[in-house]
Amino acid sequence: MHFGADYYPEYWPRERWAVDARLMQEAGMDIVRIGEFAWRVFEPEEGIYRFDLFDDAIQLLGEHGIRVMLCTPTAAMPAWVEQKYPDVNVVDAAGRRRSWGARKNWCYNNPQMQELSRRITRAMAEHYAHHPNIIAWQTDNEFSYSGCMCDHCAAAFRRWLAAHYDSPEALNAAWGLRFWSMEIHSFGEMIPPRERAHSPSHMLDYRRFQSDQVLAFNREQVQIIKSCDPRARVTHNYMTTYTGIDYRRMAHDLDFVANDMYPRDITALERAAFGHDVIRGYNGGAGFWMNELQCGYINRENQLRTPPPGMIRLWTHQAIAHGADAILYFRWRSCTGGCEQFHSGIVQHDGSPVSRSYREIKGIGQEIERLRALGLTGSAIENEVAILRSFDMARAMEVYYGGRLFDYDAELQRYHRALLHHNIGMDVVHPEDDLSRYRVVLAPLLMLVTPAQVARLRTYVEQGGTLITSYRLGAYDWNAIVPTETLPGDALADLFGVRIHEYDSLMTEAPADPTPVVAWNGQTYATQVWADMLEPTGAEVLARYTNEWYAPYAAITQHQVGKGVAIYVGAALEDRFYEAFLPPLLGAAGVMPALETPPGVQVKVRRVHGEPLWFVLNCTTASQPITLPQPMHDVLLDRPVGRTFVLPPRDVVALRSA
Ligand code: GAL
Repeated sequence: MHFGADYYPEYWPRERWAVDARLMQEAGMDIVRIGEFAWRVFEPEEGIYRFDLFDDAIQLLGEHGIRVMLCTPTAAMPAWVEQKYPDVNVVDAAGRRRSWGARKNWCYNNPQMQELSRRITRAMAEHYAHHPNIIAWQTDNEFSYSGCMCDHCAAAFRRWLAAHYDSPEALNAAWGLRFWSMEIHSFGEMIPPRERAHSPSHMLDYRRFQSDQVLAFNREQVQIIKSCDPRARVTHNYMTTYTGIDYRRMAHDLDFVANDMYPRDITALERAAFGHDVIRGYNGGAGFWMNELQCGYINRENQLRTPPPGMIRLWTHQAIAHGADAILYFRWRSCTGGCEQFHSGIVQHDGSPVSRSYREIKGIGQEIERLRALGLTGSAIENEVAILRSFDMARAMEVYYGGRLFDYDAELQRYHRALLHHNIGMDVVHPEDDLSRYRVVLAPLLMLVTPAQVARLRTYVEQGGTLITSYRLGAYDWNAIVPTETLPGDALADLFGVRIHEYDSLMTEAPADPTPVVAWNGQTYATQVWADMLEPTGAEVLARYTNEWYAPYAAITQHQVGKGVAIYVGAALEDRFYEAFLPPLLGAAGVMPALETPPGVQVKVRRVHGEPLWFVLNCTTASQPITLPQPMHDVLLDRPVGRTFVLPPRDVVALRSA
């Protein structure tokens, strides 16, 4: 279990480094991440490499017991790159080229940039291969979709299309390009989707193509590092729920997944819980790293608040409870210049350890030591419920015209939140991951779905699984083409026992008048976002719409298939619906809450040497009474805890059997 910070020795005088290293050591830290924005230091002129500054910093840190995660520095390019290669910068849809001066402003498809990336990565990888104090590498920093549409992108896109489609005719058919005379005779006619009303299929594949290019860029850096040092462990820092690139596939090229998270305040801790579950899914289970965790105020979105006492500790243990095996805070020290000059570090601009963040983190350092001693590192999280989430689904929501108000993650979180409130742990997995170990699989907004995925879902249900889906099921094929079979398509109709001939979008700016409601178990619930009118063809009706022209239709159905059930929730509903509807279904499937706690208290369980370690996190600003099945022991503060106790605001305990 590692504990540390993101450190920028290049911003500070050398004389200060020893002070920093000592303060880190005193706070129980054992790692720093360095280098991601230091390309100009490593390569001040093209082909001239300088390692002395980082050599000395790595050496000195090592003398204080601080190990290093070294980054390739391509995230921010020096001025000489643009001077020599003026076409490296991203070009937007209107043809405007971005300028040098910020970061992440270059194009992944630019051959010159690709070559420069190879060279600096190789130079660093050769120089630092087998270095005893470097224990991990990070490629670049927060790869993202650049939106670039330059000529290099256009050429690479044509090559990508030629590799994915047999012929221009096949492409025309797959994308439905007869519409508005968009058919092509040769791949050479195809361009990036620069116009606002390009076909959804075109836009979807452009995003897939750009994602593939980012993956290839990352993969090359990984391969170069490993060719110089086969034992090197390489990661990349993800941006939690970001879906601009296919993180799941990127994970196949990495040794482990790392994440960056800025929870901002206490109200965001449900979203943060979802984000951690998403990242654990990409990592194939617990053991992901937090390469950047917020440790103070941040200067985005109009200056956010300074975290009150206990907040950093709560963020930290929430991450660990969800499977983090390393915590690095962004950043060690607030910097004096640059556009992030008012972004807090652990120590402030004055470098003083009197800062409240430093003192809080020093306390956390002792708790991490106890978790290490217990053997938490590498310990598992075992959940019986999974929620399906994929890059292609997220992208399909984005290209879908008229669906701009669809928020994919908001729909997933309706379900995630309800389970979180009941302390039922959940994994976030891909439709093609192994589902057989889950008692319940939630598949909301499964709009873009392939025949192979449908077949897997069917097998899952036949073998005894409980599958729950929501609206817009099967409304897109792989290419964002609307199928001609009656919704949700024959195979899904067979699985869920319903047909859909009518639906209603509730995402208009004018509110629906009156709002259609669903009656379930003696209560009514207002519909939101979208409503599918379900016509059972074999399914049992669990709930109906009760007003307007919706009234004859079913809203929620359940279909027995083999040993399992397939449940269709036809609309998005108020939160209190999911809170009431899901627990009995989960109970029937044998899934029980970890512990009953007051609202706002989250419980997550990690299994250390087979024994449960319960993290109980008070994510509220009031004290909360907790009742345990028996007295336990709090590992964090190494103290006994009675069967009933009061957990103060923002406080957390990690409990094992006494
Ligand atoms: C992250 C980024 C860091 C820093 C931070 C500020 O997204 O990786 O370099 O900019 O945001 O909050």
